[in-house]
Amino acid sequence: MKFFADTAEIDDIKELAATGLLDGVTTNPSLIAKSGRNFMEVTKEICGLTSGPVSAEVVALDHETMLKEAEVLRKIADNVCIKVPLTIDGLKTCKALTGEGTMVNVTLCFSANQALLAAKAGATFVSPFVGRHDDNGVNGMELIRDIRTIYDNYLFDTEILVASVRHATHVLESALIGADVMTAPPKVIMALANHVLTDKGIEGFLADWAKTGQSIL
Ligand code: E4P
Repeated sequence: MKFFADTAEIDDIKELAATGLLDGVTTNPSLIAKSGRNFMEVTKEICGLTSGPVSAEVVALDHETMLKEAEVLRKIADNVCIKVPLTIDGLKTCKALTGEGTMVNVTLCFSANQALLAAKAGATFVSPFVGRHDDNGVNGMELIRDIRTIYDNYLFDTEILVASVRHATHVLESALIGADVMTAPPKVIMALANHVLTDKGIEGFLADWAKTGQSIL
């Protein structure tokens, strides 16, 4: 399963990239606003930090303007992936862009039928939002299971990009279901390395090592 960083914070992306665990980045208008940076500038900088896809989202609601915005965004770098909302205009834009070889991430997916439409529109990625479903008392991971079944039934190439990931259990379940990608805040990805028994084990080994009076270097 690929790991994308869901952020527009340069320092956090650099830190994750240095671990070798970063496969791409997703941004959205809220994350860009939170960064306080210019959209084009920060997106270009992010594209230089990974060779993987960097999702940059259109803000227009109609197909024609979405295409114009996509034209501007894809000039930023070769690894820009155009993010469009899961609406009829977004799907039309997805079909047109992927038809000419541009990567497209269809975002704000909240039902399996929406994911079916994204795959039929040739999406490179579909982004089902699990955390926002959970917030509303619906088990978001059930949606991932359903999409996996549908995509496997028809051998769709569209990758399931689990979005709105909030914690380690979302990551674990995504991997067990066989999602292709998950995107999460870097702190959630880094925290996956933590285990109390790992810390306790290191502590015990180092205490015993100290008793030997030896050093490796
Ligand atoms: C996905 O691409 C979105 O940027 C993101 O995962 C949304 O997550 P949120 O629900 O935590 O805002």
